[in-house]
Amino acid sequence: MEPLLRVKDLHKHYKDGRYTVHAVNGVNFDIFPGEAVGLVGESGCGKSTTARCILMLEQPTHGKIIFKNQDLAAMSEHPLRSWRRFFQIVFQDPNESLNPRFNVKRTLKEPLFLHGLYQDSHQLGELMKRVTLEIEHLERYPHQLSGGQKQRVGIARAISTSPDFVVLDEPTSSLDMSLRIHILSLLRRLQREMNMAYLFISHDLSTVHNLCNRVLVMYLGRIIEMGTSEDVFNNPQHIYTRALLSAIPIPDPAIKRKRILLQGETPNSRDIEVGCSLQKRCPYVRQECSFPVPYTDLGKRHLVACVLAGSEIINGS
Ligand SMILES: Nc1ncnc2c1ncn2[C@@H]1O[C@H](COP(=O)(O)OP(=O)(O)OP(=O)(O)O)[C@@H](O)[C@H]1O
Ligand code: SF4
Ligand SMILES: [Mg+2]
Repeated sequence: MEPLLRVKDLHKHYKDGRYTVHAVNGVNFDIFPGEAVGLVGESGCGKSTTARCILMLEQPTHGKIIFKNQDLAAMSEHPLRSWRRFFQIVFQDPNESLNPRFNVKRTLKEPLFLHGLYQDSHQLGELMKRVTLEIEHLERYPHQLSGGQKQRVGIARAISTSPDFVVLDEPTSSLDMSLRIHILSLLRRLQREMNMAYLFISHDLSTVHNLCNRVLVMYLGRIIEMGTSEDVFNNPQHIYTRALLSAIPIPDPAIKRKRILLQGETPNSRDIEVGCSLQKRCPYVRQECSFPVPYTDLGKRHLVACVLAGSEIINGS
């Protein structure tokens, strides 16, 4: 199968006074039609910047965004506008992403009009049903809706143009626990019904494990490990992934993991160095870590940028 999306050597740098912030620093990955890919990593590692660049909400500093065999990064504004119906985003906070002056009807109509897809009000009713909202809610404004209802409107807007690819940037983190479960099962059902691919950004590793076929683990602007959810969560091979996962309890007592504690704090994304970005914090650092660390391919597209991947040091108990 051909990938739906190919991200190639993506960089996004920002000027910050005398410094350059390397928010995204050489990211490569593919997403296939209909699959859910998780993007995890601590705050500030570059997840949202990666998403904004993929959707061309920001121009990448360097790299290719090949979507359906077209490089979006090289496209001019006019053709890009018509391509936007195929890729959409659901933001973390619907209070920021919904226009408070638009009622739900206008919010949903807008992308349909823009892409010449609006037929009649029946279409809006169908969309509301899809995200389990009442037709009467079409007349309401954001302040007349609950947090969960607002996020459903955000989801309805994203799926209105029948996209092939949707980025979900922490779509449930502004909601309380019971609502999260509802929204996640809605997202899972919509994905199945509409055969959309997802890039699901989240801090919640167990949700990513549940929802996603594959996972990308990001640290300081780079993907340091990627693979199937099963491989990354049950058999992590990068020291950073191990440290991240050792902070959450393992439900299966048969799986044992050595607890790994990293030293110090995450450095600033201005202080980019050659070699592994974890070298100042890693308890296993060695000389070869100060040179560029290529991915080790452990099979089934489980790629790990650590010199110890697959070694006894990582896998011994
Ligand atoms: N417009 C900008 N100008 C300058 N720096 C920026 C800008 N946008 C993001 N950054 C910086 O880029 C880095 C990555 O930010 P980003 O928002 O992508 O992180 P994130 O992984 O989504 O974090 P979070 O989990 O907190 O949402 C951070 O150091 C951030 O401060
Ligand atoms: S490459 Fe070296 S510094 Fe980086 S995580 Fe692996 S052992 Fe640690
Ligand atoms: Mg973010």
